Amino acid sequence: MTNMSALIVEKLSKTFRVPKRKSGFRGALQSFFHREHVRVEAVKDLSFEIGEGEIVGFLGPNGAGKTTTLKMISGLLYPDSDSGKILTLGHVPQKRERDFLKQITLVMGNRSQLWWEIPVEETLRLNKEIYELSDAFYRESLGELVRLLDLSELLGIPTKKLSLGQRMKAELACALLHRPKFLLLDEPTLGLDIVMQKKIRQFLLDYNQRRRATILLTSHNMDDVAELCQRVLIIDKGQTIYDGSFRQLIERYAPDKRVRVDFAESPRPEAIKEFDLALANGGASGLCAEARVPRSQVSRFASRLLENAGGKLPAVVDLTIEETPVEDVIRKIFVHE
Ligand SMILES: Nc1ncnc2c1ncn2[C@@H]1O[C@H](COP(=O)(O)OP(=O)(O)OP(=O)(O)O)[C@@H](O)[C@H]1O
Ligand SMILES: [Mg+2]
Repeated sequence: MTNMSALIVEKLSKTFRVPKRKSGFRGALQSFFHREHVRVEAVKDLSFEIGEGEIVGFLGPNGAGKTTTLKMISGLLYPDSDSGKILTLGHVPQKRERDFLKQITLVMGNRSQLWWEIPVEETLRLNKEIYELSDAFYRESLGELVRLLDLSELLGIPTKKLSLGQRMKAELACALLHRPKFLLLDEPTLGLDIVMQKKIRQFLLDYNQRRRATILLTSHNMDDVAELCQRVLIIDKGQTIYDGSFRQLIERYAPDKRVRVDFAESPRPEAIKEFDLALANGGASGLCAEARVPRSQVSRFASRLLENAGGKLPAVVDLTIEETPVEDVIRKIFVHE
């Protein structure tokens, strides 16, 4: 599928030196006069390669080293001086060359590059200057983003007045105005509702195909990964624990989806048994049940429930199908290994 490498990471390491905290007043006083430090190995001997046009999911538990890695790939952080190399689109990122910066973008779901007080449009215009875009390029690129992200109503509004989802859309417009070839996305759907998540994912897929752009994205949301990434890279404590196909990962470690159903009244014990339901608390009616169902059978299972299994089950008030959380998959990989 791919021929050229968009990114080469070879034996990359990043160690932080952080002040050691001692407890109590005595400790605080001691630390004040004599600072001791501990070394945190955020990224350790990490190697991988990404082909041009690939979308790769970058997963791992909190503190695994994902954000640190993205920052090094974009040149915001320097790797340890004795550590290996990074080549992003053929550039050494820490040099922050203009030609390099014009081809990449880094979006952080929890940090905004938009100016807080001024209308979104002003930030966009500022980016036009920063990236030295011609009027024609700006008009065309902005026009496309406004259409795809449904932004026209938001352009005149100051960032601080936008909802989280609206802000994320504006954020993406700003980050993609210069049509970068390489997108580094750190939790792009964090905190967004399901409808907005879907829109963002659709947009990203579209951008990837339209521009043959390479995307490396971190997420704790399995739906992001399932819809966007054929390949995933999982790290823990700065080291790779999985690099391969998402499909195989899922088949091996998350063969089921969780179906949650909210009944209008209590189901009969025979029906509970037949459908292998586990009763749970919660739901609107307080009569909730769940079942783990193999992926291939989920839609059949759900429609049987919705049809009340030919009268065997009470009416269904609500039904949700949930992906196995990323954290559960990672835990299973550990148990397996
Ligand atoms: N600027 C910093 N100074 C000191 N330590 C840091 C710094 N940035 C990150 N770390 C440490 O490096 C490790 C990796 O952090 P990083 O933010 O890369 O994790 P992450 O995989 O992005 O986690 P999350 O899923 O929570 O976002 C953590 O132990 C963190 O505390
Ligand atoms: Mg992070």
